Amino acid sequence: MKTIFLAGGAGYIGSHTAVELLNAGYEVVVADNYSNSSPEAIRRVEQITGKSVKLYEADIRDNAKLKEIFRENKIDAVIHFAGLKAVGESVKKPVMYYRNNIDTTLSLLEVMAEFDVRNIIFSSSATVYGESNPVPYLETMQRGVCTNPYGWTKAMMEQIFEDAAKADENLSVILLRYFNPIGAHPSGMIGEDPRGIPNNLMPYITQVAVGKRDHLTIFGKDYPTPDGTCMRDYIHVVDLAKGHVKAVDYILEHSGVEVFNLGTGRPYSVTEIVNAFEQVNGVPVPHEYGARREGDLPQFFANADKALKLLGWKTELSLEDMCRDSWNWQKKNPNGYRNSD
Ligand code: NAD
Ligand code: UFG
Repeated sequence: MKTIFLAGGAGYIGSHTAVELLNAGYEVVVADNYSNSSPEAIRRVEQITGKSVKLYEADIRDNAKLKEIFRENKIDAVIHFAGLKAVGESVKKPVMYYRNNIDTTLSLLEVMAEFDVRNIIFSSSATVYGESNPVPYLETMQRGVCTNPYGWTKAMMEQIFEDAAKADENLSVILLRYFNPIGAHPSGMIGEDPRGIPNNLMPYITQVAVGKRDHLTIFGKDYPTPDGTCMRDYIHVVDLAKGHVKAVDYILEHSGVEVFNLGTGRPYSVTEIVNAFEQVNGVPVPHEYGARREGDLPQFFANADKALKLLGWKTELSLEDMCRDSWNWQKKNPNGYRNSD
């Protein structure tokens, strides 16, 4: 049985990926410093799957600790989720973002080389396409000019991986460019658990719906889109997690560097998301229209043909599924994992 190491695996996407990897028959080892997560997520992964996960509390920048983990486990592939991801915070604390995100990557590459682990899959983002590429985004497009330090860390880390793989033909890399993950596991046991005021749309909507926040502000109504609000390629986190399983299957059989968009290829506007959420769940989401948020692009979405062709992956879940599962998670866990810590 092959063992996959999830760096930052207790987080939102990592925990869902752990479920799908375990269901697919992989062994899973997770390390996380819980800077934005809780070990409870992994306990619930174990409950959902009936399988166990080897869990380490560790900072991925800590080479000594990483070596201990690599010594204790025969790792076949790494998935690197460990990063800070709040765009606005990255503008205020750029050094913290560069330090955390770049250092985790360098430590993983160093320790992987020492232990002859040859496969790494990286959580990148559609943000690397920058401001000027036309939509839909294609993997062959140049990385663009990013609008914030978070985006730059992703672009820089992609470059680091490409350079490392160029210098070491034994190193295989898959860069996964996620679009906008929302939703939760259908059990309602794991989901997105932001700390403080959510930055992202869906957790904000669910917190308004559950009564924790008064109303949603929709940022901008004068964009060049059919209803004037921004459009994004929202992807169900379970579809995204299954994309990681396909990427693991692939990297264990192929060498080199590959980049894949993971999205649906179908954008929805903010207003469409709010309306869909209200209709699917039968709950109101009080909202008003406000000013544009700095750095937001009017519209972007994926061309996901390459993932279908090479990985045999495409999304299966609908916007209705995304809205229902997000709400199910929020309703069952109004305070996220906090009551369980
Ligand atoms: P998340 O914050 O839920 O998960 C990231 C995890 O990494 C957290 O559990 C956090 O505690 C951990 N972590 C951070 N720094 C660490 C360190 N130095 N050592 C150990 N653990 C550390 O975020 P997520 O939504 O699951 O995102 C996972 C990855 O995907 C991130 O790299 C993120 O940038 C990327 N991504 C996310 C989105 C999104 O919208 N959610 C979009 C594109 C890319
Ligand atoms: N939005 C609102 N009100 C809110 C929150 C968001 O109207 O309270 C709008 C935004 O203006 C945007 C849309 O909802 O039009 C989606 O916003 P999110 O913050 O959920 O997502 P982004 O598209 O801004 O960013 C996400 C991730 C980034 C990643 C980027 C590209 O958060 O990490 O997608 O992949 F870089």
